[in-house]
Amino acid sequence: MTERYVVAIDQGTTSTRCIVFDRRGQLVSLAQQEHKQHFPKPGWVEHDAMEIWRNVERLAPRVLRRAGITIDQVAAVGIANQRETTVIWDRRTGIPVGRAIIWQDTRTDALVHDLSSRPSAQHISDLSGLPLATYFSGPRLRWMLDHTPGLQARAERGEVLCGTMETWLIWNMTRGAHVTDVTNASRTMLLDVHTLEWSAEALDFFGIPRAMLPEVRASIGAFGTAAEAFPSVRIGAALGDQQAALFGQTCFTPGEAKCTYGTGSFLLLNTGQELIRPAHGLLSTVAYQVAGSPASYALEGSIAITGSLVQWFRDQLELISSAPEIETLARTVADNGGCYIVPAFSGLYTPHWRSEARGVIVGLTSYITKGHLARAVLEATAWQTREVVDAMNANSGLALKTLKVDGGMTADNLLMQMIADVLDVPVVRPLAVETVSLGAAYAAGLAVGYWPDLDGLRRNWHIAGQWMPAMDPGLRDTEYANWQRAVERTFDWIQ
Ligand code: G3P
Repeated sequence: MTERYVVAIDQGTTSTRCIVFDRRGQLVSLAQQEHKQHFPKPGWVEHDAMEIWRNVERLAPRVLRRAGITIDQVAAVGIANQRETTVIWDRRTGIPVGRAIIWQDTRTDALVHDLSSRPSAQHISDLSGLPLATYFSGPRLRWMLDHTPGLQARAERGEVLCGTMETWLIWNMTRGAHVTDVTNASRTMLLDVHTLEWSAEALDFFGIPRAMLPEVRASIGAFGTAAEAFPSVRIGAALGDQQAALFGQTCFTPGEAKCTYGTGSFLLLNTGQELIRPAHGLLSTVAYQVAGSPASYALEGSIAITGSLVQWFRDQLELISSAPEIETLARTVADNGGCYIVPAFSGLYTPHWRSEARGVIVGLTSYITKGHLARAVLEATAWQTREVVDAMNANSGLALKTLKVDGGMTADNLLMQMIADVLDVPVVRPLAVETVSLGAAYAAGLAVGYWPDLDGLRRNWHIAGQWMPAMDPGLRDTEYANWQRAVERTFDWIQ
């Protein structure tokens, strides 16, 4: 019998990847394409949704060719995507109305400020599980409807549709299914996370016409059969990329957590079928839902800028020529020399939620070298993780015992040691670091019976690296206090 495989599409912030996995969850082939980041104004970040779709079309045959397989050997395709990034398109032509506005974009700052003074603002936060912030899709959709003449009326007539990136890709792959999944929908501020349906109150609060929204489905189930990119293959799953990583790390049991280090970093703790009321700047979000079963929830701590800071260091400051060089450069010095960088490029997320905060570098003296700056860049990721873990421990009443990590930045061994040091818990990296794609593949494979159950997937998880905390506790406390003072400076800068 011919061997069969599952394909994942990981539509991320900086690139799109297609990956073929086999039954043991091993990567067979990978094809990747970056897309252009548009920064039209300070704080604005956009993507061309059509460019992203074209990339998927190009990557599909490439990844199959590299695997040496044909389309009929693909059992299912699963999609994981950058969350909250929002696009509106014409229902008839399929052409986007302007660029997609991405999750890091802060143009809705003033709008969010206005909305938060409304009496029902807290109620909308409670029902959506999210703080009112520029990060989420609801305010972004409002902005788009306000800034394109005639768009509100067209949306009300159902002539234009909106979606996050999985919706956009599925629409194109199926030639017209307008659907989303519960994890992505739970990032819009428009979904009632208790009922898993669009909330009439939230739609009213943001003034979003129901006619432009996709149908909400379970993450693991049926999203139609592809006609484009992977023709005749069933789309078995769609999940937000961070939820996909939680799934790929096989954190199926309440109490299991992972942190994915990408452009931003996101720590998710599985809370099972219990929706925990978020506090300390955390979010309640849907972890996944298998069709016909209750949803599993997660608490999430979100960090906007981690890998993006390394990219900025490479592309804007040009102090390194490739991202991995940051580790080599940081190792040229023993410590940060008193320098701290707080990358509030998109404001600060958990636990602060200050979209108006702006980044700072503090502690500069003529002693500081680019080595110290490189160290401060990496430490910024470690300290931001510490802030999130402190919030998570306070909210859940449990103390995190180990941290499972994944994502591109986990290749940096110095950073992994820093994280273990500042958290004072072991950091564990699995063999399969492509956990976003793996999670989407697992979910799609489960939907079509390619994998029978969750236990089988757990057996595929193998440890590849572990870092033990080794920092002097006094030094840790002093450094954390310094970091917190630096964070305060990002608020001082607000006009
Ligand atoms: O919420 C934003 C997150 O989904 C982005 O993830 O890995 O594409 O930067 P990533």
